[in-house]
Amino acid sequence: MFNLVLFGPPGSGKGTQSTSIINQYNLVHISTGDILRVEVANATPLGLEAKKFMDAGALVPDEVVIGMIGSKLDENKEVNGFIFDGFPRTIAQAEALDKLLEFKKTPINLVLSLAVPEEELIARLVNRGKESGRSDDNEETARKRYHEYLNKTAPVADFYANQEKLVLVQGVGSVDEIFHKICLEIDEVKD
Ligand code: AP5
Repeated sequence: MFNLVLFGPPGSGKGTQSTSIINQYNLVHISTGDILRVEVANATPLGLEAKKFMDAGALVPDEVVIGMIGSKLDENKEVNGFIFDGFPRTIAQAEALDKLLEFKKTPINLVLSLAVPEEELIARLVNRGKESGRSDDNEETARKRYHEYLNKTAPVADFYANQEKLVLVQGVGSVDEIFHKICLEIDEVKD
């Protein structure tokens, strides 16, 4: 199995690049943001609770997202591997993921961190908000999400750097150029 964490601030291109990576490497895409948005759209109890945090640009509590990941891993037993997109976002989530994968005897192989400057991120998110109507894609909430990222999520990079799994990829340029750089990094690690 090959397990990849696609890491980076909001708007850095994690979802965009995941689409190409899953096709190229036949991996299962697990995006906690996408899973949560389905729960919100279906107005489930989990979704109604999560919406408050998402609309405010804050992280949903760890126990909620860790439980969701556990279920997704259980649903996908015979697979080539996973791309984790938007997870883990706190040290507690990273530790929980290591435990879940240890139980399955398959580790995280690589963590690719997409680097994009703040103003480019905000511009991308505001632009996407105009097209998609996603409720957290306005300038005020996008800046809150970015600060939440700096405070709670950025330390997760050090967690993986200490495990010698973190590789930085410049996330500015065309989608294809960035995908090419990502493939080079994956091919270096993957057998
Ligand atoms: P989530 O959906 O994960 O949002 P995010 O991390 O803020 O990331 P985005 O999906 O907004 O951006 P992305 O990096 O995927 O970029 P994308 O490819 O879309 O989370 C939403 C909320 O859910 C969180 O705020 C939180 O409340 C909750 N949540 C989710 N996971 C959680 C967790 N683990 N723990 C706790 N809470 C959690 O690209 C963005 C835009 O840029 C697009 O329009 C795209 O077309 C464009 N673009 C992409 N690449 C380029 C490029 N190279 N050049 C120009 N434009 C580009």
